[in-house]
Amino acid sequence: MPAVLPAPSLKESEIMTKLLHVDSSVLGANSVSRLLTAEVVAEWRKTHPDTSVDYLDLAVDTPNHFSADALGIKVGVQAAPTEAQRFENAVSEKLVSQFLAAHVIVIGAPLYNFSIPSQLKAWIDRLAQVGRTFKYTDKGAVGLAGGKTVIVASTRGGAYSTSEGGRAMEHQESYLKVIFGFFGITDVRFVRAEGLAMGEAAKASALASARTDIAVAVAEQAANQDLASLAA
Ligand SMILES: Cc1cc2nc3c(=O)[nH]c(=O)nc-3n(C[C@H](O)[C@H](O)[C@H](O)COP(=O)(O)O)c2cc1C
Repeated sequence: MPAVLPAPSLKESEIMTKLLHVDSSVLGANSVSRLLTAEVVAEWRKTHPDTSVDYLDLAVDTPNHFSADALGIKVGVQAAPTEAQRFENAVSEKLVSQFLAAHVIVIGAPLYNFSIPSQLKAWIDRLAQVGRTFKYTDKGAVGLAGGKTVIVASTRGGAYSTSEGGRAMEHQESYLKVIFGFFGITDVRFVRAEGLAMGEAAKASALASARTDIAVAVAEQAANQDLASLAA
């Protein structure tokens, strides 16, 4: 009788992880968040070589502001959606599907006017869909996109993380934590470079600190590593 061989265990290199890389800075080649997201993705690939990467540049492919047309097809007020409603629905559908397919999402999120760039907000507005990323129950809201890991490259001209007043003023990291938490994602990691406009020494120290954050962020196992193995 032939010996029953144990099922082969998946090695790290055999696990396929889907990573979605998103940039939103309008500063092009001068952008610090773009530099940092590229470094995060490169480091992630080193430790997770079978990662497939999808890239979205929101400064180039910016979804329209969320609008009545974007909402129209969802609420079904008419039998035949208009051309504009079909177009906006296709944009929303493409973006939410791309987001839901990813295990790890790396986001470049600069601090602009105490919040995130409007391009990044326009993307999030397309992700926030009942039945896809959240639902309401009699006990309140429930996130439907749990198990993902989000790594945010947070860049700031000033320094906000070191004082209570500063933390109360920024609506960038705090907002991203809330909205991804609302989608059910609790593993949100920050790679932070702040004080970038406070002189050369402060900028150098901000970048060094961000690179330490990168090492920590990519060293931790993804929240959904099991899910990623299933997808292999
Ligand atoms: C339009 C705009 C608004 C900004 N608003 C703020 C702000 O409110 N607070 C702050 O500390 N820095 C602010 N900054 C500085 C940026 O956070 C800083 O330049 C950072 O590097 C931007 O990331 P990026 O280089 O990837 O675009 C602003 C920069 C721009 C271009």
